Amino acid sequence: MGDYLAAISATPKSWQHHYMESVELAELAEALCQDAPIPADLDGLPGVSDTVFFGLNTGSCCHIHAHEEAVVFQFVGTKVFTLYPPEDVRHLYFEPITKDYRRSRVVFPEVNYRRFPLTRRLNRIDVGLKSGDVLYIPVHWAHWTTAEGFTFTLTRFFQARLRQYRFPSPAFRCILGRVIQLIRDRK
Ligand SMILES: [Fe+2]
Repeated sequence: MGDYLAAISATPKSWQHHYMESVELAELAEALCQDAPIPADLDGLPGVSDTVFFGLNTGSCCHIHAHEEAVVFQFVGTKVFTLYPPEDVRHLYFEPITKDYRRSRVVFPEVNYRRFPLTRRLNRIDVGLKSGDVLYIPVHWAHWTTAEGFTFTLTRFFQARLRQYRFPSPAFRCILGRVIQLIRDRK
């Protein structure tokens, strides 16, 4: 962690190169794990994964959680989540199901409207999180993030129930994408 902090502080434009993304909290530090004030109500959920996102001026690409719900805890700094309801997935030019089917090919915030004209139809919702705020992200809600300065965010992912999937789209492509991935992993 010390090396990581030194690297992002010392490197010009470090945000382009360094982002601690999707790191399991328990693997990062046991003490941090014990200090994380996650309400007991969120214990006992299926397939729980506590994941750290830590960086300087860093955000994520546009993606969906294909099979998970998420509760985001903003610990340090401010971060903006731009969210789109599941029906907007058809306007977001997601990767084919044989590739990274959870990821949009659109690069935000400077959208190339000539290449991705359907993005003009998006219904975006911007949610600003500051330290102490919590955000629930239902399954299949697309989102990307931006942040200024240092941010430390902890996300508790847990398995979504099938009845919460948005059918027919994007649920069918998410299920197909996972099946293809499972078959590939077996080989
Ligand atoms: Fe996400």
